[in-house]
Amino acid sequence: MSDFKTLVDQHSERFISELFDLLRLPSVSADPAFKQAVLDTAELVKTRLIEAGADKVEICPTPGYPIVYGEKIIDSSLPTVLVYGHYDVQPADPLNLWTSPAFEPVIRNGNIFARGSADDKGQMYMHVKAFELMLKTNQLDCNIKFMIEGEEEVGSANLDGFLTANKDRLKADCVLVSDTSMIANDIPSITTGLRGLSYIEVEVTGPNRDLHSGVYGGGVGNPINVLCEMIASLKNEDKSINIPGFYDDVVICTEAERKLMNEAPFSLDEYKRELKIDDVIGEEGYTTVERTSIRPTLDVNGIWGGYIGEGAKTVLPSKAYAKISMRLVPNQDPDKITELFKNHFESIAPKAVKVVVKPHHGGHPAVTPVDSIEYKAASMAMHATFGKEPIPARGGGSIPIVASFEKILGLKTVLMGFGLDTDDIHSPDEHYGVFNYLKGIETIPYFFKYYAQLKKNI
Ligand code: BES
Ligand code: MN
Ligand code: MN
Repeated sequence: MSDFKTLVDQHSERFISELFDLLRLPSVSADPAFKQAVLDTAELVKTRLIEAGADKVEICPTPGYPIVYGEKIIDSSLPTVLVYGHYDVQPADPLNLWTSPAFEPVIRNGNIFARGSADDKGQMYMHVKAFELMLKTNQLDCNIKFMIEGEEEVGSANLDGFLTANKDRLKADCVLVSDTSMIANDIPSITTGLRGLSYIEVEVTGPNRDLHSGVYGGGVGNPINVLCEMIASLKNEDKSINIPGFYDDVVICTEAERKLMNEAPFSLDEYKRELKIDDVIGEEGYTTVERTSIRPTLDVNGIWGGYIGEGAKTVLPSKAYAKISMRLVPNQDPDKITELFKNHFESIAPKAVKVVVKPHHGGHPAVTPVDSIEYKAASMAMHATFGKEPIPARGGGSIPIVASFEKILGLKTVLMGFGLDTDDIHSPDEHYGVFNYLKGIETIPYFFKYYAQLKKNI
């Protein structure tokens, strides 16, 4: 195998500037104002796949944003790897908190700053460039299929339909995804599980109109007060979640599993220092690593109502709202949890208010095996380029499609991500290390090489 490190070094400047072209397009899937940019991004991904040497490259329409498909079938007797990624990004708001504009990529201190640099344009594009290098140097040892979607950040609502309708075209031996993080640049890890998601919006209505808070205050239910009390009641003293039936389907990890995950390098002091907090809060009886991976959570993502303008206005609002997310673990079902939440939330509402519970998107949790050939290939690949065997680690985020790959296509996924938890994905100043980007491009070819070898030997 020719030295991929040398090859990556030779082309690094071009690889970075090509990524910048992608990052300049504000492909925010959540906001219709960016529709054209999202569509332009799909076009650019298509062009880049063609330039890299992919065949049958196509922009596949869905009822929402399109999926870009491309493939290279070298030899039908070789194993096939389905590469998944997403070209859409989260909104860049709040814009004023960015050091430099979100869609004008720049490198500072070895990091590429731009919305989508780590999640997921940078990580997705590593695969396009690794593919280009493998093909150019005649070292593509597996068939490859690309499926790059544009609605991951809004719940991938049209993906299951695409998988079902394209089972044949998507036939593969495994799925390879780079959309997660490692423990540290010198502590490589492979994500072995993702949490699911149930996302809900609630509306609480009190009196039929805003009222003078002196004239009516004390006499009627203030929807903001009531909403806060209702939300507060969703957690027990020990910070477990107080929704009947919520934990019924939670798979309890064995002591051995828990011991192992707590042996992975993690410093609570560093965690606190990096976040500038003096203490953490979480479910009693679990460590921070466990709280953020194997345990389900409930968090308010946004809450509003009443007067929030300058100065003070004495008003008793008519309405209050909140957006609430619950991260789920195996084997919690997002639809069931949404239903449990809705029933419970409605049942605890005092008669003084009316409550409407509106479900948003959800996603199933997933665990990926550590004894599979694809895991082994990823582990060997990272070992080859980092000089250390990666640690298996459960992740806290969600990629709902991973469960669908298993359910609809019968495929196992390997989550070989190269980001860091400190990349500030979804936050202002999102960044991705130049080191990580180039290391990913260097590592991916080894995955293909080892995967082909291991598959041949079974
Ligand atoms: N790439 C992330 C998920 C992720 C990040 C997993 C870091 C593990 C480590 C993905 O783009 C994402 O943000 N997913 C959403 C879910 C979606 C339904 C909006 C999430 O986790 O909030
Ligand atoms: Mn992502
Ligand atoms: Mn994301």
